This record gives sequence, structure tokens and C-alpha cells, in this order.
Amino acid sequence: MTGWNASDIPDQSGRTAVVTGANSGIGYITARELARKGARVVLACRSEARGTAALERLRSEVPGAQAGFEQLDLGDLSSVRKFAGSHGSGERLDLLINNAGVMALPQGRTADGFETQFGVNHLGHFALTGLLLPRLLDTPGARVVSVSSGFHALADVDIADLNSERRYRRWIAYGRSKTANLLFIHELARKLAARGSDVVAASAHPGYASTNLATQGVRMEGRKAVERVIELGNRVIAQSAEAGALPTLYAATAPGVLPDSFTGPSLMMWRGAPATSWRARRTLDDAAGERLWAASEQLTGVTF
Ligand SMILES: NC(=O)c1ccc[n+]([C@@H]2O[C@H](COP(=O)([O-])OP(=O)(O)OC[C@H]3O[C@@H](n4cnc5c(N)ncnc54)[C@H](OP(=O)(O)O)[C@@H]3O)[C@@H](O)[C@H]2O)c1
Repeated sequence: MTGWNASDIPDQSGRTAVVTGANSGIGYITARELARKGARVVLACRSEARGTAALERLRSEVPGAQAGFEQLDLGDLSSVRKFAGSHGSGERLDLLINNAGVMALPQGRTADGFETQFGVNHLGHFALTGLLLPRLLDTPGARVVSVSSGFHALADVDIADLNSERRYRRWIAYGRSKTANLLFIHELARKLAARGSDVVAASAHPGYASTNLATQGVRMEGRKAVERVIELGNRVIAQSAEAGALPTLYAATAPGVLPDSFTGPSLMMWRGAPATSWRARRTLDDAAGERLWAASEQLTGVTF
């Protein structure tokens, strides 16, 4: 995989991609590079203003791009259902990129009462994938890519306390949600294999990339000094959002990507070209994947 970059993305003409959180950071670059290679791209974003601004930017950077904005709030299951319902059963869906995310936010709840990080990062994407799965199954060579993180190592999913009700620790909650991303894809890949489907479910992570992710929580709390330190880290230590998007783009488009693979930057899971990434063994645990799946179905009401 050494040296793989965006110019290596195969032609995507005639293919359709949905990218969640496509107005910012890695999601925006992912959408832009897929559009550059000819894909029809749906920018699925929670804010209409930010989504349409990103669409304008994308069209200016990729003249002739086939791209559109659609509203999707992963912290609100009614929005997820509305988004999925607007895509007819006959429409193809080649790529579902479960990218959107929040990190280390102060304690909060989604519209449906779930802990925000678990609700947005995992449950929203779980429901979205389930509702769009019929379209993926009907599209030859389709893929689902979930964007997890090296920080999945911070914490295992606590099946007895999925919404961190006993005690909320923001980084542990983030780690749990990113472990859930990996376990979800693990279980999805197993289920797809069991039914003989050629849909590939895989995971990726960007290493440390300069985006809006790390500043969001401290900004919500008005911690200006910390925000400045994070911005400095983004400038000095992080790789660009362009580089951070490469593992996602690789998992989504490179030939021969394996089901349940985990692609990330080659150098210490931090920066560099896409390569197979280390993952905690517990993210490959079938029984844990089954338990998370059953709980996610029960919480979201989406069964698949
Ligand atoms: N950057 C890194 O170093 C890093 C490292 C490891 C993993 N990741 C993962 O990479 C993914 C992308 O993050 P990023 O770094 O590109 O951060 P980002 O620039 O903050 O982008 C996150 C995107 O998710 C969207 N989002 C947040 N809550 C949402 C919701 N309820 N419904 C729909 N969209 C929502 C944001 O929308 P708004 O603009 O409206 O907030 C934004 O478009 C995340 O899953 C993150 O966990 C990033």
C-alpha cells in the first residue's frame, strides 16, 4: 500500500456515494476526492448552512462535480429515517461512508436520549446503515466504510451501560463509541458473509489529522486557552485533512480491500500512507459484536 494517494482512486463514474459529516475535515475531503473521480456524491450533513457552503466549495474545487447536499442529523433518529426514506429502493448506492463524528464533548444527550458520542458516532450510523442496506445489497460491489479511531483503545463498549449513565468520562465515552464502530463493522461483515453478499464492510481511521474535531468540545465550554493549544497541535503535529482522508478513500475504493479490515496511516497510526492498522483484539470478538448489534437494534428500533 506504500505511497497510495488520492490519484490512485479508481474511476468512480456511474457510482453513488453517501458521505456523512461531509461539510468538514475528513468527510469533506473524502466527498471531494470521490467526486473528482466521477462519483455522484451526497453530502449528508446536519447543518443546512454548513452543508450548502461545503457543496459550493466542492463545486468550485471540482468543476462539473455531481454533488448534492441532504440534511442528516445522526443525533436524531427521525432525521436518519427521513434521510434514508428519501432514497428510493431502485436507486443504487455504491459507497456509504460513515464518517461523521464528535469527540470528547461535555455530557449531553441526542434527541432520542442517548449519550451524545455513542448516539451520534455509533447508533446514528447503525440505524442509517440498516435503513440503507437494501440499496447496498442491490448494488454490485458496494462498500460500507466506518471511520473509527486509534482512540478506540481507550475503552471497551460497556454493554451494561451503553449511555454512560453510571459515570460520564468524555474520553472514555469517545473510546467506547469508536470501539463500537469497529465492532459494528466486524459484525456487519460476518452477517454479509453469512448471506453470501459481496458488499464489503470495512473500517478506517485518519491518524491525527487537522480538522475541527478536537476543538468542538472545548469551544462549547469556552475554554479558549485549551482551544489555542489544540489549534497549535493541529498546525504543528497533525497531518492534513487531505492525508487523513486517505485511509477512508483507500478502504472505500482500492481493489481487494478485505471485509472487516482496518486501514490507517502507516507510521505509528499517526501519519503516512494507508496501511493495515493495529486494532484491539476485543474489536474482533464475535460475541461482543452480537451483543452490541442486538442492543443497537433494540435502542434504535432498526433491525437488519
Ligand atoms: N481528525 C482526527 O485526527 C481524527 C482522528 C481519529 C478519528 N477521527 C474521526 O474522523 C471522523 C471525521 O472527523 P473530522 O476529524 O473530520 O472532524 P470534523 O472536522 O469535526 O468533522 C466532523 C463532521 O461530523 C459532523 N457531525 C457531528 N455531529 C453530527 C450529527 N449529529 N449529525 C451529522 N453530522 C454530524 C460535523 O458536522 P458539523 O460541522 O455540523 O459539526 C462534521 O461535518 C470522525 O468520526 C472522527 O471520530 C478523526
